[in-house]
Amino acid sequence: MTETIRTGSLRGIMMRGPGLPATLPFYEDMWGLRLAHQTDDCALLRGTGEEAFLYGLKEGPVFGIEYVHFAMPDRAAMDALHAQCLARGAIVLGKPAEFGDWAGGYGFEILDPDNRRLRFRTDALRHDEETEWAKPRKVSHVVLNSPDMEGTQEFYEHVLGFRVSDYSADQMVFLRCNTDHHSIALVRGNYASVNHVAFEMPTLDEFMRGIGRMKQKGHVPSWGPGRHGPGNNPFAYFVSPSGFVIEFTSELQQINEDSHEAKVWSRTDPEAMDRWMTAGPPTPAQRAVMQGRPDPGFPELRAQALGAS
Ligand SMILES: [Fe+2]
Repeated sequence: MTETIRTGSLRGIMMRGPGLPATLPFYEDMWGLRLAHQTDDCALLRGTGEEAFLYGLKEGPVFGIEYVHFAMPDRAAMDALHAQCLARGAIVLGKPAEFGDWAGGYGFEILDPDNRRLRFRTDALRHDEETEWAKPRKVSHVVLNSPDMEGTQEFYEHVLGFRVSDYSADQMVFLRCNTDHHSIALVRGNYASVNHVAFEMPTLDEFMRGIGRMKQKGHVPSWGPGRHGPGNNPFAYFVSPSGFVIEFTSELQQINEDSHEAKVWSRTDPEAMDRWMTAGPPTPAQRAVMQGRPDPGFPELRAQALGAS
């Protein structure tokens, strides 16, 4: 087999749902993001890094994902990834082209096996980095619930060049596209949905201060703070006003490709899952909110793509 082109990095995510743009003040006043751009039906929020936007709030018919947003290093890599997606049987939604939206740049979209839209973009608008303390810098990772965890994992590995960093028992797989331990993780679920989206704080001190900012404004973590086993990252989970789970994290493990070996983490050893032993296991309510609401994705785009080919 020819060498697999790897996805460059995770840019962020565009969420959709009824009334979602109206939840903007929560993300500005409490979560620590800033409005980057706004249209009639959508608000785009940036962090302190260069990325045009980390998180989008788009009006939509269901609570779920509008698209997961990835970067490629340049146009040649974008074209190569597009060719790989076609060759390896992905549902590809058109050729690479200029994006006409605010963030601009060049790229294309595909559907994953759960009909999630994935957008790949290069040459996007970039901000100057800021040095505001205790504000999210980037989206660290997106965790997805899938009714076919193994099939979806195979897709992310084979079509998009992700590699397995670790497993949590037979319930979860952590996938990397660069040195970050995971940019995407998959959880075995009864249906497709979003499990959570994690925002990276630059330091552990800022991670704690972010939790403090939330707490002072009346939002305690629904789970955490604690430190995960797989990825070794501190975590504090909150529930957004629209019922999505969001996380502050920091210090995610960086992977050395030459020496890293994926392992299966036990779920029966409490200290392996909760390294500081501060968080305890997730409550039934936490599990329920992380299971999320069924997200049909975009089956109509799959039908269109198949009809056109
Ligand atoms: Fe996470």
